[in-house]
Amino acid sequence: MDKILGLRAICRLFLGAEAAVYLVDFFGGKAVMKLRLAKTYRVPELDHRIRSLRTVNEARAMWRATQSGVKVPALLAVSRKGAAILMAYVDGVKLSNVTGDVAEQTSQLVGESIAKLHLGGAVHGDAVPTNMILSGRELFLIDFGLSESGYSIEQRAVDVNLFLRFAKLTWETSYSKIEAGFRDAYLGEMGNTDGSRVMQRVSEIRLRGRYVPERKLHDNNAEVTYVES
Ligand SMILES: Nc1ncnc2c1ncn2[C@@H]1O[C@H](COP(=O)(O)OP(=O)(O)O)[C@@H](O)[C@H]1O
Ligand SMILES: [Mg+2]
Repeated sequence: MDKILGLRAICRLFLGAEAAVYLVDFFGGKAVMKLRLAKTYRVPELDHRIRSLRTVNEARAMWRATQSGVKVPALLAVSRKGAAILMAYVDGVKLSNVTGDVAEQTSQLVGESIAKLHLGGAVHGDAVPTNMILSGRELFLIDFGLSESGYSIEQRAVDVNLFLRFAKLTWETSYSKIEAGFRDAYLGEMGNTDGSRVMQRVSEIRLRGRYVPERKLHDNNAEVTYVES
C-alpha cells in the first residue's frame, strides 16, 4: 500500500462519508491515521478550512479527554494541512459488536467515562457504541470530531440520551440492566445532584420525540401520542 503522510499504510480499517482510517506502521508498531476526506462539492479552500478545523477540534478534544481521566487513543501527531490525526491503535472490539451480556458488564465503564468527560467540561457529541472500543477491561472513547466544550445539563443529557437510545436498539433484552449500570456509574462519578438532573433531562428529551410510548405512562387517557416537531 501507499505511504500516508510519510508512513507506510498496512491496510484501510474504515471508509466513511467524512473520513478514512488507516492502520499504519509507526516505528515498527501499529498506529491509526484518520484522514478527513476532501468533498468535491465544496469550494476547495473552504473545504480545506472545514477539514482542518474539524481535525484540530478532534485532536484538542482528545487531549482534553485524556486530561479528564478518560481513556482515548494516545495522540501521536496532528496535521492541520493534511487534515489528519495520527493516534495509537487500540486493539479491541467495537462496543456495538459485543453481546448484550458484555454490554451489561461494560455499562458501568461507559457511565464512568462519559461522566468524567462531562465533569472535565466537555461533551462527546456522538457517544454511540460504534465510537467506543473495548480493549480487555478498558473502554476507549474515539471519534471526538463533534465534541464541544460546555457544562450544560442539556448538552450532557444529549450525550447520555444518544448512548442509551442506541443501547436500546442494539441490546433490547439486556437494556434495562445496561441502563441501570450506566446510571449507577454516571451518578457515582458526577455526584447525585448533578447526575440526577442530567438523567431527569434525558427523560424529558425522550418525551420530546415524535412517537412517544412513554407518554402513555404520563397520560392515562392517551392511546398513543404523536408529537409534532
Ligand atoms: N485508534 C483507533 N484504534 C482502532 N480502531 C480505530 C481507531 N480509530 C478509529 N478506528 C476505527 O475506525 C472507525 C472509524 O473511526 P471514527 O473516528 O469513528 O471515524 P468517523 O468519524 O468516520 O466515524 C472506528 O469505528 C474504528 O473501527
Ligand atoms: Mg465514528
